[in-house]
Amino acid sequence: MGSIKRIGVLTGGGDCPGLNPVIRAVVRKALAEGVEVVGIRNGWKGLVTETTMPLTLESVAGILPKGGTILGTSRTNPYKKEQDLAAVKANFKALGLDALIAIGGEDTLGVATRLTAEGFPVVGVPKTIDNDLSETDVTFGFDTAVNIVTECIDRLHTTAESHNRIMVCEVMGRHAGWIAVHAGIAGGADVILIPERPIDIEEVCRAIQNRHKRGRTFSIIVVAEGAEFKPGQTVNVVKEKDAFGHVRLGGIGNLLGEMIEQKTGYETRVTVLGHIQRGGSPSAFDRVLGTRFGVRAVELALEGEFGMMVSLKGNEIVPVKIEQATRQLKLVDAELYDLAKLFFG
Ligand code: F6P
Repeated sequence: MGSIKRIGVLTGGGDCPGLNPVIRAVVRKALAEGVEVVGIRNGWKGLVTETTMPLTLESVAGILPKGGTILGTSRTNPYKKEQDLAAVKANFKALGLDALIAIGGEDTLGVATRLTAEGFPVVGVPKTIDNDLSETDVTFGFDTAVNIVTECIDRLHTTAESHNRIMVCEVMGRHAGWIAVHAGIAGGADVILIPERPIDIEEVCRAIQNRHKRGRTFSIIVVAEGAEFKPGQTVNVVKEKDAFGHVRLGGIGNLLGEMIEQKTGYETRVTVLGHIQRGGSPSAFDRVLGTRFGVRAVELALEGEFGMMVSLKGNEIVPVKIEQATRQLKLVDAELYDLAKLFFG
């Protein structure tokens, strides 16, 4: 325990409400234990270039309700270039880090797993608004995003009803439709489309037409950005890729809107919520979860539990192997989606 004197902390991947509560908790807990904290700027990039900032009580004062991350973030993958990886390893030592807390999603934690396997002392903290990391019930940021999207769906309802329109609302969710399903249920969406279930455009239009037969004159369709049409119904556009090989998504909402208008003849409008879901102040739930994760991550570092990640299971914060959490994505339960389907049309 006494061997840990200096720990680093970094945030990688897409930002997410709740990152600052984690950073604050890491700093507060570490300082209380007499451990110094170094902030690594802009994810793994900061370890490549040795760009850091000291983290003190003063630097984390007032950041709890702030969205984003005071450390900055990037989608840098140091395993892509040999010299970057060599720099990360050299700087880890040059900075005198006895441990590193890496806060991120599947990509950032994937790098953490590989570094741990090479003998570097890394502890993980799971982060993603998409909520698609395994081995934790939820990730912080998800609750905030669901609340924002629910409010947007409520707002879309009143304008849709006034104009007798179909409203397509595109939300985040690259591989998993957690935000779409939760906010869709909470907001009373008439159809919810997710990456886990290929879109059948005929079925979507039938649901809308059934509503109209029942006398409803508007419909709300929530679609996750990663959703795809059934083979043969249309093609998704090929887009540029980031350092982890992910394409930049967005566009399914517009495509869907055009097809619905064409097939049903009902006037359709499309809203792409995009980064609004990731910006702004974290919900109370995410502040508490982030705080609990941050404190526990420092404890794991002090206990020498490297290669482990904090996770929420039930109401407990427990350590799990990072490797296990990143091996497979957590997709939407079939049961939950079938429940949502009861309210379609
Ligand atoms: O991975 C989280 C996420 O929010 C995805 O839903 C989305 O596709 C991606 O990040 C977009 O991130 P950016 O535009 O910042 O690269």
